[in-house]
Amino acid sequence: MQENYQQKKQVQQAYYNSTAAKYDAWHTETESAKIVDAWNFANLKKFIKNNKIHKSLDVACGTGRLTSSLLQVSEEVYGIDLSEEVLNIAKQKYPQVNFTLGEVVSLPYQDNFFDLVIINGSLHHFFAMNESFQEIYRVLKPEGKFIVLGEPNAYYHKWFNPFFYLWILVRIITRILNIFKAQKTVPPEMIEPDAEVFMPNQMKQALIKTGFKIEKFYTYDYLPRTEAKGFLKIYASYLKFEHKLTTKIFPNLGSAIQFLAKK
Ligand SMILES: C[S@@+](CC[C@H](N)C(=O)[O-])C[C@H]1O[C@@H](n2cnc3c(N)ncnc32)[C@H](O)[C@@H]1O
Repeated sequence: MQENYQQKKQVQQAYYNSTAAKYDAWHTETESAKIVDAWNFANLKKFIKNNKIHKSLDVACGTGRLTSSLLQVSEEVYGIDLSEEVLNIAKQKYPQVNFTLGEVVSLPYQDNFFDLVIINGSLHHFFAMNESFQEIYRVLKPEGKFIVLGEPNAYYHKWFNPFFYLWILVRIITRILNIFKAQKTVPPEMIEPDAEVFMPNQMKQALIKTGFKIEKFYTYDYLPRTEAKGFLKIYASYLKFEHKLTTKIFPNLGSAIQFLAKK
């Protein structure tokens, strides 16, 4: 394991312990965040082809938004996270889910236990991609599904990436729109601690090395998040449009990576 894992882990833990309530509020009360969550969950349902799952696990589940959505597709739902404070909120909000305090590199579950394991927007916080994939492989049943959603793409902030320039343009436009809008003030997007982002190919290689079969792998782009009313109207349509068109032309350049792999 990377030497600095323990050190990075403590930074993550301290950050999420101290911002748990704010983190939850931002994601559950911000309209654009809700659109992204809905988009991610729709993709997850496509990945599992709407089949009913027996046991599922959300790794680094945070305050449990997406974990609780898994109840729609899975009979038993488990969530694990490093931060006690995010888990306190999760347990209070979603008592039907089995939440556990723990870390991704030593999952407290027996081998071949889950039919589905997901990670939403968290792999870049672990600083241990290979070890995480190995642990997830271990706890999955043969043929079990591993789904990663909304994972930042290291290719995003590169000069050759057209999505990056689009992001800047939309950021400027929506900032101006925000000035004119007369609605409640939106809490500023939270600045997350240090992260380790990966290139699509790096992630694919790590999956293959672990023994996973990659079934689907793509990137999609989401624009900067803002609550400007006019923008929100086009936001969901944009996600669908670019997914059908632009990311087909630039398959590795969208801001976020999603994949379905099988044990
Ligand atoms: C950006 S949040 C995402 C939370 C949740 N998946 C969501 O969609 O809201 C990242 C989460 O990863 C957790 N985390 C970071 N490092 C971890 C580790 N090594 N093991 C387990 N969880 C970890 C943090 O505590 C935090 O809740």
